[in-house]
Amino acid sequence: MSSLRRIYYDLFSLVYDFIIRLHSRDVEGSLRGFITEKTNLLKGDRALDLCTGTGSVAVKLAKYVGENGLVVGLDFSRGMLEKAKQKAVGQDLKHFYLVQGNASRLPFRSASFHGVTCSHAFYELKEVERSNAIDEVARILIDGGRFCLMEHAKPEKLVPRLFFYVRLFFLGSRDARKFLSEGNTIFGKRFKNITKMMSPTGQSKLIYGEKWGG
Ligand SMILES: C[S@@+](CC[C@H](N)C(=O)[O-])C[C@H]1O[C@@H](n2cnc3c(N)ncnc32)[C@H](O)[C@@H]1O
Repeated sequence: MSSLRRIYYDLFSLVYDFIIRLHSRDVEGSLRGFITEKTNLLKGDRALDLCTGTGSVAVKLAKYVGENGLVVGLDFSRGMLEKAKQKAVGQDLKHFYLVQGNASRLPFRSASFHGVTCSHAFYELKEVERSNAIDEVARILIDGGRFCLMEHAKPEKLVPRLFFYVRLFFLGSRDARKFLSEGNTIFGKRFKNITKMMSPTGQSKLIYGEKWGG
């Protein structure tokens, strides 16, 4: 199932940026700038963009933390990572790495990142993967490091909403609907100072919280 999902995302990578622009009306990348600014990262910090896809957020983060900072974009789809690589070329990013891996088993040392982002992807994980991924994010963050999670708001119109849930059903993300309504509850276990807001586009919502040791 996992390899079928990867094949799906490899194919999706060919049209992904076009579709996301249509859905989010993210004409100038403002949505990616929005999540980046909420990370609270400083110049020189290390950040992970989980399920980075075509790397839009990772590239923004890399510019944000500057040449002394470090950014890793992780994804399990080679197709998505190829697109991310193309996006990063020529942008003069000093410490920018793309890693093929699974969100539920992160290949990084504990407490190695100051911030983690995940945009439009967490709800697509299967329930067990999502639960493992949140534990992994908490593990690799420093105490006080922020996890910023951005998800699509549920489409309001009937046909897009139907398409949205049919896609999630076939991806095996059968509890996505519940997660999108109650996504903040998953934060409660590991994060504090949880904040929720809508994006300026009105098409996505952001939740963030800070890792705490307890
Ligand atoms: C809808 S895309 C979002 C991409 C990107 N974050 C963005 O905002 O444009 C979902 C991404 O999650 C990745 N993904 C799904 N399940 C994953 C997993 N278990 N481990 C790593 N990446 C995964 C897919 O390959 C895909 O690139």
